[in-house]
Amino acid sequence: MIIAQISDTHIALDSPDADQRIRDFELTIADINRLDPAPDVIVHTGDIVHNGRQDEYAHSLATLAKARMPVYVLAGNKDDRMRLREAFSGYGYLAPGSDFIDYAIDEFPVRLVALDTLSSRSNKGDFCLERIGRLTDLINAETAKPIAVFTHHPPFEVTVGPDRLHFETPEIMSRLRQALQCERIAGVFSGHVHRAAAGQVGRIPATVMPCIATRLRKGEYPAAMQKRPVYQIHRFDPLWGFATETRIVADRVAT
Ligand SMILES: [Fe+2]
Repeated sequence: MIIAQISDTHIALDSPDADQRIRDFELTIADINRLDPAPDVIVHTGDIVHNGRQDEYAHSLATLAKARMPVYVLAGNKDDRMRLREAFSGYGYLAPGSDFIDYAIDEFPVRLVALDTLSSRSNKGDFCLERIGRLTDLINAETAKPIAVFTHHPPFEVTVGPDRLHFETPEIMSRLRQALQCERIAGVFSGHVHRAAAGQVGRIPATVMPCIATRLRKGEYPAAMQKRPVYQIHRFDPLWGFATETRIVADRVAT
């Protein structure tokens, strides 16, 4: 199974670099569409838009609609849960009746479990006891397949960049890490930090991918790459688990 992960597109129609963010997003989807073999699925790990506005979601939805494979989205701290839910409700996987945007997708050889790590108090992550219960239910709903977990905020200490902790407190992050201790979970994939990082959740490998919005990307990139988004492909092998490849988007106009 092949999963294309994208993250942090931060679509903002009235920002000075609005066109660049739109171009980054479109080029990325066009690049994924050209891959052979094609990924089975695209997962967007949040901060789809920058201001939570309805018109920003409409724009993002139109871009994602060009993907040749199914797309699943998470909420990031810049997203608005209600507007995101409204925009993506037509796809049917965002269950109504909960404030939280968390769900499991069972139709692939690897189950996809998407979590909601948003806080009502800050841009950092939160994971309350209610969400722990919901996560446990999602994990236990099927007991045969391996699982890939997706979160916006990474549940491990990120040792590059100024901030190591992306949850509000170490206790909240530990609580989530503890709940993820299941031998069927083969990988944890996150965004939010805008630069690549790798770590562990117990014995589970965990990664953060860079942001798609090139102007918001952190870390050093060669000049030739400055307008070329990078995204990640996670290939699952039943024997070896996940192998992650970072891809540089081709520098040509989206089709
Ligand atoms: Fe974020």
